[in-house]
Parts: sequence; structure tokens; C-alpha cells
Amino acid sequence: MCGIIGMMGNGSVAGSLLDALRRLEYRGYDSAGMATVSEGSISRRRSEGKIVNLANVLSQEPLAGNIGIGHTRWATHGVPSEKNAHPHSNDRLAIVHNGIIENFAVLKRELQDQGFCFESDTDSEVILHLLTASLTRHGEDIPRVCADVLPRLRGMFALVVMFADREDLLLGARHGSPLALGFDSDGGGYFGSDALSLSGLADRIAYLQDGDWALLSRDESSSRLYGGDNDLKELRTEPLTISSGAFGKGNYRHFMEKEILEQPSVWGDVLAARLDPQVRRPRLPRLPLAFRDIRTLHITACGTAYYAGLVAKYWLEALAKISVDVDFASELRYRSPVLRRDDSLAMCISQSGETMDSLEALRLYKRSGLGTVAVVNVEHSSIARESDVVLATHAGVEIGVASTKAFTTQLLTLACFAITAASERGYMSDSDADTAVSALSCLPGLASQCLTNLLGGDENFLHATQVLSHAKDVLYLGRGVSYPIALEGALKIKEISYIHAEGYAAGEMKHGPIALVDDTVPIVALAPYDRWFSKTLSNLHEVSSRGGDVILFSSKRGIAHAKESGIDLRASIELVDCASVLCLEDTYLAGEIGVDKDLGILDVMHPFIYSLAVQVLAHDVAILKGTDVDQPRNLAKSVTVE
Ligand code: G6P
Repeated sequence: MCGIIGMMGNGSVAGSLLDALRRLEYRGYDSAGMATVSEGSISRRRSEGKIVNLANVLSQEPLAGNIGIGHTRWATHGVPSEKNAHPHSNDRLAIVHNGIIENFAVLKRELQDQGFCFESDTDSEVILHLLTASLTRHGEDIPRVCADVLPRLRGMFALVVMFADREDLLLGARHGSPLALGFDSDGGGYFGSDALSLSGLADRIAYLQDGDWALLSRDESSSRLYGGDNDLKELRTEPLTISSGAFGKGNYRHFMEKEILEQPSVWGDVLAARLDPQVRRPRLPRLPLAFRDIRTLHITACGTAYYAGLVAKYWLEALAKISVDVDFASELRYRSPVLRRDDSLAMCISQSGETMDSLEALRLYKRSGLGTVAVVNVEHSSIARESDVVLATHAGVEIGVASTKAFTTQLLTLACFAITAASERGYMSDSDADTAVSALSCLPGLASQCLTNLLGGDENFLHATQVLSHAKDVLYLGRGVSYPIALEGALKIKEISYIHAEGYAAGEMKHGPIALVDDTVPIVALAPYDRWFSKTLSNLHEVSSRGGDVILFSSKRGIAHAKESGIDLRASIELVDCASVLCLEDTYLAGEIGVDKDLGILDVMHPFIYSLAVQVLAHDVAILKGTDVDQPRNLAKSVTVE
């Protein structure tokens, strides 16, 4: 939520600030602004809407100055407007803020009583006036000003402050929301919300810890880092490895399209990093609790990452006999979960590693004494740093707000975790583990095949996208491992097409949602030809006989079986048959395999293939509807507020 940047160099910074804001735009895009100092005075440009609007303003009214700060906003307090856009400034200083100041109302009254006038409706503006009042009291003693002001702010913040009379200094502070600082070798110093914003600018980077604040100069040796107690801390930077090239969209129309199509190669990267080529087994770091001692795994996450946790629940319970509970982080943190440290492990799944609710849920686990595992894409994130063990998902930079490759790489990492757990706990034989690893190794190739088919003009698929693009409501159904993918499919289409969609366990339809069914509510059924297929098919008959339009995603055998059963399908989309790829055709004969049988390797593979299908479906429907695929309204990719 909100991206902030600060920089000082030897030349004009406005262009670099704008580029950095473009890299931060995934964090919020309802307004943006920047300010610079030149010849002792602060100038500011702001605009409502996306960075492109700010760029237009700047081309009309350029900003001079070798030092500046910038902000891209996701509104919390105060509507998106130029007035509420950051930086907030007066003739002495300018600030940019990411987070929420929870006690802003009390502080605002106090400041108004002192004669300060507020120009915006934001919570952030109190910081500007508190700092100004403190500077008046303490003169140039900035450490004293920080000691005075920062403890008064309740809630969360990452701040960058620029002073009109100091072209050699920026102040940054972090409490909750992320903030990094960096340097180049030519006398440039930088603050930014993430490493990506500093890519192409800084060579070296350091991440502020909670409570830290820093005085940034143009070089590392004269910059200072302080802890929450105002004591000087050692400033230790490390090379910034992320390249600004990682940000490019190439020839793709959208980042989401690029990120969907990258999956075959990214899955290959994950497997190369995760599988030990000698023993052909997943390589995992040592856990705080040995697999054989884990009775319960507590998983917490938000959004798409939560659905990855739900898939892992099916896998871990069936394959490794570990009891798993999965909680929305925003719920877990305010419940009183019963957590036993002796035989339980906690896991937090997060692409960004910065989602505030997930971070706080992780801290709750830690306070209860549980060992913690982070499944994260951003390896230097807060969640990664605060966990005992990190399982990096290796998705690479994901910019599209709707998660795609980050989700499937979470699944791949969790599949490796489940296979290792099953083997080490003695529930998976060596030969089954061999089959499992071979199956995972097939996934990149299957992904290519699947994407080629979906994008190759399959008439049924095109018809399905047309039907959905005209719908107001859609139901996604799945059973077993396909149920979380139905939830994810519904989330994807809601996020980027603004179509109301719900994911349901197919067997639950008759307990309420079936009342919604008529010929205006298309039903997207995710039904691989697996142990649940015949049950799902019965549920689809129940829907179809009430006038529901069924769009079936299944394999060739599943579609044939459905048609033989006489069901009326609006469209049937054939997805790759994982069983035939592994020559396991006989393993799942619908109707012959009992639902009480253990999950097999095909149940590990199907979520990957069906995830691709729901991603492409949501993307293509959004294109038909003409919505903003990468930056859907009201959303942001990194949610660092509660
Ligand atoms: C936001 C994003 C989702 C993401 C969720 C959790 O809502 O729009 O795509 O799944 O946050 O993010 P995380 O970074 O913790 O995985």
C-alpha cells in the first residue's frame, strides 16, 4: 500500500524519481506526487490518478533539484485527489508516508489548537506538522526531533522527510511498513519501499528494521542508522542483485499476460533450485521441528496465498498425515487459536512477504513459541526475516496485481514440502517419491502444452470467455484439490473483470447456492478426471437440470464421460490429461475409486494445470471487458495496512 521513494544525487532527480514511482506503482495508483529542493526551497507536483498523469504534469512544469521524494498512493484516509496526494509539504519540509497513523485524529486536534492549518484529509499530514513544531523547538537537532516525534505516532509508517535547508540529507523512518536504503558509487543515496524501486539506481542496499530511522547522505560512510532507542546502529549494506530489467513488460500487453506465460520457465527454475539433482529429491532447509515430530501445521496467509495454503492442506493431510489448519491472517490475529508448541509448526505464505496481516499473524505464532516457516517470493521481506526458515518460491518479480506465477510457484514449493514430509514420515515409499519427483518435473512441459492450447484459439474456450464477459454473476465449482482452485478462479475474475464470482465446493451447492442458479449465472466447473470426478458430475447434473449453463474444464476422458452421461454443456474445454502423461490412466477410473482412498500424485499435478486455465480465463474475460488488467480498481499488490 503506497510506495515511497527518496533520493539525492549529483544531477537532477525528477526523471529518476518518476521511473522509481513507475516501479512502485503496483503498491497503489490512485494519485502520485513528488517534491524536490532547489536553491533552498521546496517545489512539488501532484496529480490524481496514475503515474502517467504525474508525468504529464511534470512535462508541463518540470522540477529542478538534486534531491527529492516521491509517492504513489493507495488511499486509506481521504479520497483519491490531488489535495490528498503526497508529498505533504510546507516551506521547511516535505514528507511522504506509507501506512496508517491510527491516532491521527487526536494529534490533528492538538496541532489545530496550536494553530496549524490542515490542507488535506489524510492521516499523514499530522506528521508534517508534528515535525515542523518539533524543529521549531529543537532547531537543527534532527535526532532530538525524531526522539520527540516518532514515539508519538501510533499505527504503522514508513516515512521519508526532506528539508528545505538541507540538500545533503534525507530522513527515513520505519515502524511496520517496509523501507530500504541504498547507495550507488557515484554519490547517490536512496530510500525506497522495496528493492525493485532502487534497482538501476543503488548498487548496495540495507533494510531498516522495525523502529529504525536513518539519516541518509550521499555516501554510506556519512549516513547514520539509529534503532528505536535512538542508539546508533551499524549500517550494513549488501549488494543489490535485482536488475531493473526484471521490471520490463517486453512485448506483452500486460504484466499479467507476461507472468502467466512465464510459468513454464519459472516452474523449471523453481524445480532447478528446489530439487537435488544427485538424489532427485526436494532440497529443504532444516526445519525448527523435524517432520516426524510435526502433528499439526498451522498455515496463515491472505488472498491468493491463502488458497495455496488450502491446496497444501489436502496434500499434507493425505500424503504426510499431518493435520493442517489454514487461516486468513486477518482472522487469525484476532482469534484465540489453540497452539501447541511441542508438536506444531507454523507457516506463513506470502508473495511480497510484507502483507501486514500475514506479518502480524506470523508474530502471533512466534509469541506462542511455534517454530516458523516462511514461503515467500521476496527473500529480504519482513516475513522472511522474521521467520526461522525461509522457503523461497523463486517466481521472480511479479508486477500484475492479480497473482499468477507467484501462486503456482507457492504451490510448487508446497508440493516439494509435502513430498519431503511424506517421505520423511514414512508414508511415501522411495519408488512413489521417484514418481512424485518425475511428475513435478513434467509440469513445466505440461504448462507449455496447456497454455499453447488455451491461447491457440480453442473455440470452446473463446465461447466460454464470451459467456463470462456478459455475466453479472458466475459460480466456480470444484471438489477436493480443485475446490481451492475454484476459489482462486473466482477471485481472479472478481479482481480484474469486476464480475461477481464465488467459488464453491461442488458438493455444497445443494445447501444454498443452487438457489441462485438460472440461465444468467454461468457455472465454471473444474473437474479433472480424478477420484472426485463422478461426484462433481452428479452435482453438475443437479445444476444443469435447473437451467444452469455449465462450462466444463476437464480432460478428454472427463469430457467424454460427462457427455455420455447426457449433461447439457454450454462449453467444454479440454485440458491436458496428466494421467496419460504419466501412463497412469487406470489409476483414476471415475466411479471406481473410493473417495476415502489416499491422494495420489495426479492430485498433486491437477491444481497446477487448472490454475493456468482459470488465470487465462480471467485475463481473457478482462480483455473483452476492457478493464485495466494490471492495475484493477481499488486494489494494490502489497497490502501493508490492516
Ligand atoms: C493482495 C494482492 C493479492 C495477494 C494478497 C496477499 O490482495 O492483490 O494478489 O494474493 O495481497 O499478498 P501476499 O504478498 O501476502 O501474497
